[in-house]
Amino acid sequence: MKFDIITLFPSMFDGFVNESIIKRAINNKLVEINVHNLRDYSPYKNGQVDDYQFGGGPGMVLMCEPVFNAVESLRKDNTKVIMLTPSGEVFTQKIAKSLSNLEHIILLCGHYEGFDERIKTIVDMEISIGDYVLTGGEIPSMVICDSITRLIPGVINIDSLNTESFNDGLLDYPVYTRPEVFRNMSVPQVLLSGHHANIDKYRSEERIRVTKEKRSDLLEGDIDE
Ligand code: ADE
Repeated sequence: MKFDIITLFPSMFDGFVNESIIKRAINNKLVEINVHNLRDYSPYKNGQVDDYQFGGGPGMVLMCEPVFNAVESLRKDNTKVIMLTPSGEVFTQKIAKSLSNLEHIILLCGHYEGFDERIKTIVDMEISIGDYVLTGGEIPSMVICDSITRLIPGVINIDSLNTESFNDGLLDYPVYTRPEVFRNMSVPQVLLSGHHANIDKYRSEERIRVTKEKRSDLLEGDIDE
């Protein structure tokens, strides 16, 4: 999987690509993440990328030409171009799973008042990471890149993927580590029993209990396969 991220703030990604699981996935060549500065694609003086909006109104709008130049120079036949915007489809684990099968994704990070509407003609999908407004698309693009990368075979332990939250549309069961008793709080006996069938049964029941308690909406809808 290859990601090309187009942004006005490339250094925001320094920590993201240089730490932990993402760094290891890059080093192991399981994923490639390239960050591009939108200004480098501007044909205008001083790398201008935004301008006032026609009709008046607050804030600046990202212009067509730098974005078209960037996308057209990076896009291949098998590329999906994704725009990060609060008005996009709300991102879920199900979308992450379907995107993890692709070969190449371009992530377009917006800033200011948004993108010139005509930019949408070169975009395949618009994604929001939730019903709130951030200062730009950089953090959303890291969220998408991270959630997809961890689904790529070999990036993390397959057992972790099978039992985690949202697998089967349920939240994860509670986990414990040493000590067995901490400040009078004990680890559930069944987990210390060594009886694997009982442990599996307890964990399945806990997933349903926790989901009912915290996210009953997940039990109603068509959440995940
Ligand atoms: N840009 C600003 N807010 C956003 C959000 N919630 N999701 C995606 N892109 C955004």
